[in-house]
Amino acid sequence: MENFTFYSPTFFAFGKDTEKDAGKYVKRFGGTKVMIHYGGGSVVKSGLLDRVKKSLENEKIEYVELGGVKPNPRSGLVYEGIELCKKENIDFILAVGGGSVIDSSKAIAAGAVYDGDFWDFYSGKWIENALPIGTILTIAAAGSEGSPDSVITKEEGMFKRGASGNAIRPKFSILNPALTQTLPAYQTAAGVTDILAHLHERYLTNSKEVEVTDRLIEGLMLTMIHEGPRVIADPNNYDARANIMWAGMMAHNNAVGVGRSQDWNSHNIEHELSALYDCTHGAGLAVTMPAVFKYVYKHDVMRFAKLAVRVWGCQMDFDNPEATALAGIAALENYLKSIGMPGNFQELGAKKEDIPTLVKMLCYGDGRTGSISGFVTLNEEDCTKIYNLMV
Ligand code: NZQ
Ligand code: ZN
Repeated sequence: MENFTFYSPTFFAFGKDTEKDAGKYVKRFGGTKVMIHYGGGSVVKSGLLDRVKKSLENEKIEYVELGGVKPNPRSGLVYEGIELCKKENIDFILAVGGGSVIDSSKAIAAGAVYDGDFWDFYSGKWIENALPIGTILTIAAAGSEGSPDSVITKEEGMFKRGASGNAIRPKFSILNPALTQTLPAYQTAAGVTDILAHLHERYLTNSKEVEVTDRLIEGLMLTMIHEGPRVIADPNNYDARANIMWAGMMAHNNAVGVGRSQDWNSHNIEHELSALYDCTHGAGLAVTMPAVFKYVYKHDVMRFAKLAVRVWGCQMDFDNPEATALAGIAALENYLKSIGMPGNFQELGAKKEDIPTLVKMLCYGDGRTGSISGFVTLNEEDCTKIYNLMV
């Protein structure tokens, strides 16, 4: 295991009706004037936004609203939010929605206390300061409710890039699994896929002797594999939703990723797909992950074979461990299909003729120098071959 530091200061309130305490938590964490940030309308339709406003009013906390965050959130609304925060002297941002709303809130929180262009943070600058934020999560997927990360798409050039810093970890996150019951099946399944991807990106490591985190990741994967189909079959299954919601947080606040190198190439390769086609991040990952894994498994056949045996219940073939590794990847592929995720470019709405553009953006966009690194370093030729495996 490698040396590490771990800092995860977010206060979590989990369970039924917990959103009614939003006002109390804002007050507890110092907010006096709040910007409520939300998406395209699901929180208006469900009545959640009204309940949150009521909770703030009960605590006599002033607020302004900024809705309209799109999935794969854009820089334009971030600039608007930064201006609004400055103009209104906002001292707390409350994100009500999914990963896109939370990530947009994080970008605004960082930009509102920074003199330069907020995009500096998405070009590699660590976020040292930000307005405090709280979240009320409505979809289990991105894990942004407990992570120090934010992903934004710059409209000029359509670069989708991430920024990080402990300053943007939410002060509190309210997780009520019942709020996810209104999700369309496709979004639920995309969320399950994203959570599985966050676990795979950590499982694929070059670090040795990391059994504790291996076992934690395997446990979370087994939970997701079990609960995914249950919640697709019965969207109102609160208990399955609850297990998925907490697994989603655990998968990405890095408790299971400490002391080990991580991958993140599937995410990097997918981000170009959701930047170019505006597809759902989890759906893009369903197409990306099997292709990446089939391309890189020979780098550490035994790690893939271990995953196949421990998580997918494959029989270990000691004479041919490669066959076991590939059986595990096939099991993942079948699982993702079974929950309604796309399996190739066509089903995702991507085009083979765009592969050179995708590779160029991936390997050279926004300051990159020809390759992406992770479990395996991948150059232009590798990335071209991987995208071709998805066609
Ligand atoms: O905009 P509204 O109307 O709210 O609709 C949303 C949106 O259309 C809808 N939705 C959310 N909760 C709902 C609901 N519909 C009905 N009932 C509910 N309870 O679902 C759609 C997707 O929402 P979005 O926030 O985009 O989903 P998700 O949480 O998957 O976030 C995706 C974004 O997070 C980024 C992705 O790249 C993508 O941009 N990621 C962020 C990470 C992080 N900050 O740590 C890590 C991830 O790997 C990921 O890259
Ligand atoms: Zn993700």
